[in-house]
Amino acid sequence: MSVENHHKINTSKLDEILASYDYKKSNLIAILQKIQEVYKYLPEDAMIYVGTKIEGLSPATVFGVATFYAQFSLEPKGKYEIKVCDGTACHVRGSMPVLNAIKSKLELKDGAMTTEDGMFSLETVSCLGACGLAPVVVINDKVYPQMTSDAINIVLDTLLKEER
Ligand code: FES
Repeated sequence: MSVENHHKINTSKLDEILASYDYKKSNLIAILQKIQEVYKYLPEDAMIYVGTKIEGLSPATVFGVATFYAQFSLEPKGKYEIKVCDGTACHVRGSMPVLNAIKSKLELKDGAMTTEDGMFSLETVSCLGACGLAPVVVINDKVYPQMTSDAINIVLDTLLKEER
């Protein structure tokens, strides 16, 4: 797994969560959801810890489960969470060029979805229910309709100027 992650793990917090779910394998999803609530993502060390503490599980199984479900984030979220809709309507109307424009503007390389300074994270999501506005980008809670590469570059330039 190529996820870099240096989050300091508080094992007593993890034990508290595990205990509240009886250290049960059948509660794994709920446990991971709780951990993600605390850290805003699933730190690698936390997954390893869970995998060694629950009977019948291994860290590899926990990674597998966490990777399988889109609701889990294996990287920390940025201060600005960028979501690019890649539902059908948005895809057809050009969400991928917009996504690529964001990647190159934020210099996200090698599959990284969070900038090194932790300022921006990027993800694709399925239909946001605003197809009439396609292609749609959401940054934190703000919806940007009918995005183009040029438009998103202007939006990001503004944010970058404010932040860096
Ligand atoms: S496909 Fe993007 S909002 Fe529906």
